[in-house]
Amino acid sequence: MNIEKIYVAGHRGMVGSAIVRELLAQGVKESQIVTRIHAELDLTNQFEVQKFFAQEKPTQVYLAAAKVGGIHANNTYPADFIYQNLMMQANVIEAAFQNRVKKLMFLGSSCIYPRLAAQPMREDALLTGTLEPTNEPYAIAKIAGIKLCESYNRQYGASHCVDYRSVMPTNLYGPGDNYHPANSHVIPALIRRFHEAKLANASSVPIWGTGTPRREFLYVDDMAAASVHVMQLSKTIYDQHTTPMQSHINVGSGSDVTIAEVAQTIAQTVGYKGQIEFDMSKPDGAPRKWMDSSRLNALGWQAKVELKQGLAAAYLDFVNKL
Ligand SMILES: NC(=O)c1ccc[n+]([C@@H]2O[C@H](COP(=O)([O-])OP(=O)(O)OC[C@H]3O[C@@H](n4cnc5c(N)ncnc54)[C@H](OP(=O)(O)O)[C@@H]3O)[C@@H](O)[C@H]2O)c1
Repeated sequence: MNIEKIYVAGHRGMVGSAIVRELLAQGVKESQIVTRIHAELDLTNQFEVQKFFAQEKPTQVYLAAAKVGGIHANNTYPADFIYQNLMMQANVIEAAFQNRVKKLMFLGSSCIYPRLAAQPMREDALLTGTLEPTNEPYAIAKIAGIKLCESYNRQYGASHCVDYRSVMPTNLYGPGDNYHPANSHVIPALIRRFHEAKLANASSVPIWGTGTPRREFLYVDDMAAASVHVMQLSKTIYDQHTTPMQSHINVGSGSDVTIAEVAQTIAQTVGYKGQIEFDMSKPDGAPRKWMDSSRLNALGWQAKVELKQGLAAAYLDFVNKL
């Protein structure tokens, strides 16, 4: 049996660190996992990436490094989001190919789908409509990442045994999340807000919108388990469930909740006893966003971690980092 040498790009990020945990839990030895922090290897630098692959010669790659952020960051720094993500993935995928990496997993995001895609969003909704303008540059980069993987497969699959796959997760949360007050996703932002409200004995916590929009959330360790599961599927099975020009796989929890429900569950988890006030004058966003994960389910994978359980672990992580 081949001993794999696995490069996890972005291993200090929320998803990359969960992938490392999952690989170790599955019996991969620490010595088989190759990592570099951003300061050691800037993945936007083609020369450095080529040098790293030539030196380390990994046999598998998980590409979990990316420039990631919420609406505010995406809107304020669109050039950074499209440029850095395009460069990182192009550099890593080309260097992987040049250095005979057979298997690579690219991580995308549900924002690749059109703004008005039918719900739940199926894989074949890709490129059927206009994207959400606030994160269009980021989404375009992620779509290019899927197409890079598919193009290398189509051109070099038969001749070089190239097998590059991609997974598109829904909203993720869990240990390693970004809890920045102005620049974080819904769950980490609410964890911080309820925690601070508890400490301040605040009588109420305001939340934008009506609380009625529905969103899907997936615990990051589930995401890591799904990524490794998809990477380990045989090529025959993967090919049976995908097509060469539509090869990405959605990763969702299979159920969604209202913003009000998630806010109440976080308040309970944190131990905040005051009121939650919905500010109806603020926008709601899309009424519902959830993924159709039936392709992944048919491939034998299902999410395990319930929202309540995942939120308890996420809150512990937040508190431990204070
Ligand atoms: N979080 C979510 O809800 C979510 C949802 C769907 C999809 N995803 C996808 O999952 C992937 C990982 O996201 P995440 O939440 O784990 O992000 P994250 O926590 O911000 O981690 C990203 C990692 O990439 C590294 N990185 C960024 N720019 C780099 C560069 N130029 N060179 C080398 N390393 C660089 C970062 O290192 P530094 O911090 O040192 O810069 C960090 O370790 C992304 O592709 C994202 O699209 C995430």
